[in-house]
Amino acid sequence: MTADPLHSAALSDELFARARAVTPGGVNSPVRAFNAVGGTPRFIRSARGAWLTDVDGNDYVDLICSWGPMLLGHAHPEVQAAVLEAVARGTSFGTPTVPEVELAEEMVARTPIDKVRFVSSGTEATMSAIRLARGFTGRDLVVKFAGCYHGHVDSLLASAGSGLATFAVPGTPGVPESSTALTLVLPYNDVAAVEAAFAQHGDRIACLITEAAPGNMGVVPPEPGFNGFLAEICARHGALFVSDEVMTGFRAGKQGQWGLDGAVEGWRPDLVTFGKVMGGGFPAAAFGGRADVMSRLSPEGPVYQAGTLSGNPIATTAGLATLRLATDEVYAHISAAGETVKAAVAEALTGAGVPHVVQASGTMFSVFFTGEKVRDFADASGQDLAAYTAFFHAMLERGVYLPPSAFEAWFLSAAHDDHAIQTILDALPAAADAAGRVSTSSTNGAN
Ligand SMILES: Cc1ncc(COP(=O)(O)O)c(C=O)c1O
Repeated sequence: MTADPLHSAALSDELFARARAVTPGGVNSPVRAFNAVGGTPRFIRSARGAWLTDVDGNDYVDLICSWGPMLLGHAHPEVQAAVLEAVARGTSFGTPTVPEVELAEEMVARTPIDKVRFVSSGTEATMSAIRLARGFTGRDLVVKFAGCYHGHVDSLLASAGSGLATFAVPGTPGVPESSTALTLVLPYNDVAAVEAAFAQHGDRIACLITEAAPGNMGVVPPEPGFNGFLAEICARHGALFVSDEVMTGFRAGKQGQWGLDGAVEGWRPDLVTFGKVMGGGFPAAAFGGRADVMSRLSPEGPVYQAGTLSGNPIATTAGLATLRLATDEVYAHISAAGETVKAAVAEALTGAGVPHVVQASGTMFSVFFTGEKVRDFADASGQDLAAYTAFFHAMLERGVYLPPSAFEAWFLSAAHDDHAIQTILDALPAAADAAGRVSTSSTNGAN
């Protein structure tokens, strides 16, 4: 069974023109605009299970899942019912509420944190975690990795300086040099670079922040032992280890990425940031960690942090319902569906002679259009972007909505059933051929 043939995208085209007249680039977050692949983003009218329906009436299997949150699929009836009930009681009170306590308890029970504070976006979570780390340690420097994205926090929109242990430069206009002058940007998975940075600046480093398993340069798993090494070197130098699980949390596995490899390595992060799945499709995020560190936070301690809609009862209700429904079976299903898709993508691209690497961390995976294993951002940047663009559009034409960038994870949900998976599998051979026709390093001479 395949998706019905697609209609035109005329209404999306029209809406995109209207949107661009009133919103920069026509979108409220840049990657949605299709700039990396060209063409018109589809304006989605509704979504159910694994499927998106656009304003022109086209159906697509969704491999974005709202960039991670929709672990259970769209419009899950039990999450919807919980949200509707909560809405009926009122939408925001600016007082403590029951669902935020219950969600906090659920998260503390599942992850290596003692206490948690809710915020409204992943950006706020990492920004606040860094402030807390600085307040706790009394130090200023922050270490991050190139290719890891932690939201649009000024000090983290930074590019590596001229040498490994030199300070970063702004990664975008609008960020002052003074904001990145306290940031060190290192290559991911590079033990020697981390050791050099700590050897030179160790007593000034407040924290090191890393994606628990990077998904924002495509999926680049930590080499075995890398997260444990980071935790250990932070501990040795009195710095805090901040594990950003905004993407991986409750997604890579039931306990997030840290649940997958942290326990094994015998270390735990001092602070963890969360977002996406824990908000069940609503704007909710969080940071949490060691009780002694979290107790430095206002009003218990002196480090200020606040938010009008933090812990919003609708968002925390949706997150709580989602986490309670995120059972072992859900992860087993997503994992099995992922294995099927990964194998089929590899087979199709191999058949078309397109160099590629499929990489995964738990249930998160992505496909790099390069022949070599990707260990860091420099490797990821070596991809054949023209091949991905051709592949992306051929999939879209066949009713599969992939991330409109080669540097993103592909997301599945518990609702990706046989029909949805078959639709992906049916689209793959033609999409792989389309990639092969433009691939600069195709092995079948098709270019
Ligand atoms: C690992 C990670 N951290 C932080 C963020 C920022 O979250 P938000 O977009 O909710 O601000 C993201 C967003 O994709 C992310 O993937």
